[in-house]
Amino acid sequence: MTDDVLKYSSDTEGILTRSNLPVDQEPDILSLRPEKMSDYIGQAEVVETLEIAIQAALLREEPLEHVLFHGPPGLGKTTMAHIIANEMGGNLTVTSGPALEKGGDLLGVLTHLEEGDVLFIDEIHRTPKAVEEFLYPAMEDFAVDFIFDKGVHARSHRYRLKNFTMVGATTRVGLLSAPLRDRFGIFRSLDFYDEKDLVQISKRSAALLDIAIDDGGALELAKRSRGTPRIVNRLLKRVRDYAQVRSDGRINSKTVHAALDLEGVDEKGLSNLDRRYLNTIIRFYKGGPVGIEAIAATLQEETDTLVDVVEPYLLKIGLIMRTSSGRKAADAAYQHLGLPFQKKIF
Ligand code: ADE
Repeated sequence: MTDDVLKYSSDTEGILTRSNLPVDQEPDILSLRPEKMSDYIGQAEVVETLEIAIQAALLREEPLEHVLFHGPPGLGKTTMAHIIANEMGGNLTVTSGPALEKGGDLLGVLTHLEEGDVLFIDEIHRTPKAVEEFLYPAMEDFAVDFIFDKGVHARSHRYRLKNFTMVGATTRVGLLSAPLRDRFGIFRSLDFYDEKDLVQISKRSAALLDIAIDDGGALELAKRSRGTPRIVNRLLKRVRDYAQVRSDGRINSKTVHAALDLEGVDEKGLSNLDRRYLNTIIRFYKGGPVGIEAIAATLQEETDTLVDVVEPYLLKIGLIMRTSSGRKAADAAYQHLGLPFQKKIF
């Protein structure tokens, strides 16, 4: 097992126990994650699809079909993989597309899987082509083909794998090759969470962190979390610090306001990077349309960060538009930044 592969095993009570984990990567993050489908808040249709598929697989004593999750970061793709492994009673092995540099890296992982285990591959769209070739027979026939020697002496040996379930996660389903995409029996997109779900997640996480939060505080936190549970949990910890140091230790809308203003998170939940992105289109490129590469170059940020992290939420709340000739700022973006809207004369 390589350092890039983290292994989890579920104990007899179905609670995840962790082994081989770098100390700085875990319990904290995991502790706020739901461990059962019934504790999962939001994504009701995805949860129901999976509950049915899991129950049916358990009834038939078969492994669950391979599952592909698509959606922006922080919406629960990894959490879902943990829950699937937990509910199926299997071990979870975690890796990512870019960590699998050579076919051998993947072979090592695959041959260590036990019956009913779950292999989670994050950022699966970044799996090198040569490694992807090994995935096809592994997913379809639960086998890998070893090739010995070269040229006329080449011989292949098929090695049987245990029946496992692969869970893939991607922010860019369009970059997945059709043969890989088609080998997943279950494909679900995770969408941004609505305010009501985020309020519930804030309250659940606050209870787990043992901090008091009132309805106003939970609502304000929900409004500023870009529709994303991971952001709720991250900001909640900053607000908790603020409430404990600068207030009476309880979270209300005033503490959320004050703590998140300090963090640079505004009333719509936009961060400094979001606002720099909008300012670049409006001030530097006169509102657009402008190509993503030009915006990235001006901001000195990775294009992938802008496409995967920044743009999905700005598109969702209608602050930008993507047209065939590039990105454009919507009127609402000018309003949000307090800038006068400049009518273009063609
Ligand atoms: N923590 C993070 N995401 C969650 C979710 N969807 N439901 C419950 N708790 C969560």
